[in-house]
Amino acid sequence: MANALKIGVAGLGTVGASLVRILQTRANALTVACGRPIMVTAVSARDASKDRGILMEGIAWYADPVEMAKEADIDVFVELVGGAEGAAEQSVRAALVRGLHVVTANKALLSRHGVELAKLAEAKGCLLNYEAAVAGGIPVIKTLRESLTGNNFSRIYGIMNGTCNYILTRMEREGLSFADCLKEAQRLGYAEADQSFDIEGNDTAHKLSILTTLAFGCEISADQIYLEGITNISIEDIHAAADLGYRIKLLGVAQKTESGIEQRVHPTMVPLDSVIAQVDGVTNAVALESDILGELLMVGPGAGGNATASAVLGDITDIAKSRPGAQEVPVLGRPAHLLEPYRQAEMQSHEGGYFIRLTVQDRTGVFASIATKMAENAISLESIVQHSKQPAAPDRPQTIILVTHATMESAVRKAVGAIKGEGYLIGEPQVIRIERPKT
Ligand code: NAP
Ligand code: HSE
Repeated sequence: MANALKIGVAGLGTVGASLVRILQTRANALTVACGRPIMVTAVSARDASKDRGILMEGIAWYADPVEMAKEADIDVFVELVGGAEGAAEQSVRAALVRGLHVVTANKALLSRHGVELAKLAEAKGCLLNYEAAVAGGIPVIKTLRESLTGNNFSRIYGIMNGTCNYILTRMEREGLSFADCLKEAQRLGYAEADQSFDIEGNDTAHKLSILTTLAFGCEISADQIYLEGITNISIEDIHAAADLGYRIKLLGVAQKTESGIEQRVHPTMVPLDSVIAQVDGVTNAVALESDILGELLMVGPGAGGNATASAVLGDITDIAKSRPGAQEVPVLGRPAHLLEPYRQAEMQSHEGGYFIRLTVQDRTGVFASIATKMAENAISLESIVQHSKQPAAPDRPQTIILVTHATMESAVRKAVGAIKGEGYLIGEPQVIRIERPKT
């Protein structure tokens, strides 16, 4: 039997502790599957006194993950600390410089430093595996990186943040408040250390940037992604969407257009009868549209200790099995020096349907004025309805809901700007884009 593969795990939180527990409790089965034992020989976290339900016998403890990466007796460095900079970034870099294989679940890190780290790994002949970085337990990285080579992708999109999908689902199903749902997602280990990354859409943007690179062969770019989170989505929007035959999901979408790659993250209305509308709770879904295969929709657990550890474990066992030529699978789907510059399409030129909710003073002519502003901007309306549950009264605000046919983002922004200038709006208009999945 081949020598044991020695693993160092940096970060023993939700994912790291689950991973070590699985490696310890399934040691025999993993040895059989990989043809060699996989042994955790070093770990690192901040608090050495915390009981994490793992056996520490024979495992070296490091307070500093960078020191562990530089000195520990390990073959593989597993980074589960989190964050684009600091200990995570420095330790991964140190491990690669030392010639260790690296496994990480850190999408923030890859989104910021992925290209340099891929170049470093390729120069050193090391593997840099990151299946858990996108969509938790769904094997979308391996699918894009290895199984679908040769396909030309036109659009990739999906629900890539378990926390947001969990919040939106529970708000809709149980009428719970946003704050209560978020607290529960944190308790269950779904949320990022800084939960604003989840609810403001940054986490989805990090994941989308990685998928965009794998699908379209361009350098990673997250800073220019159009970003809207779910913090402005009210229960009123969720109910109005349902009345119109839609459900609201936080989607990440990357689409090839003539002017470049359109990348956007925003709350999105999807038809109730689409598959993606049925994806509930912490579950994620990623759709890949390509010319040879057609559409592939992958659905599965998107966050949480075990689901994420399952993906990390897959990356580790790939290394343990040392498939011939494994080092030749480029980190980002093609050799990092051959990635093309990222060319961004303007959000203003996005074309699609829109849901617009306006709260207005109940005055004669308001309805007509709104319809006129839409027409002046060449926006064709699918419907316009007064949506208020209460009867009209002189001082009672009224809700007007519009759904447009496919139109340009620039036209919608101009029309909404013009409506705002009319003086009858109360509060900010709500604008939610509509996406039409193929299935
Ligand atoms: P977590 O529960 O917050 O755990 C982070 C761990 O890192 C803790 O054990 C912490 O130590 C340790 N740590 C933090 N700073 C450190 C430092 N400077 N030096 C040494 N150790 C340090 O995070 P997590 O949820 O497991 O997530 C880990 C990574 O996986 C992140 O990149 C995250 O984005 C990614 N991820 C998470 C999920 C999920 O569902 N949770 C899913 C996919 C990907 P202490 O325990 O001592 O505080
Ligand atoms: N916070 C992330 C989520 C973890 O909720 O999806 C998985 O990447």
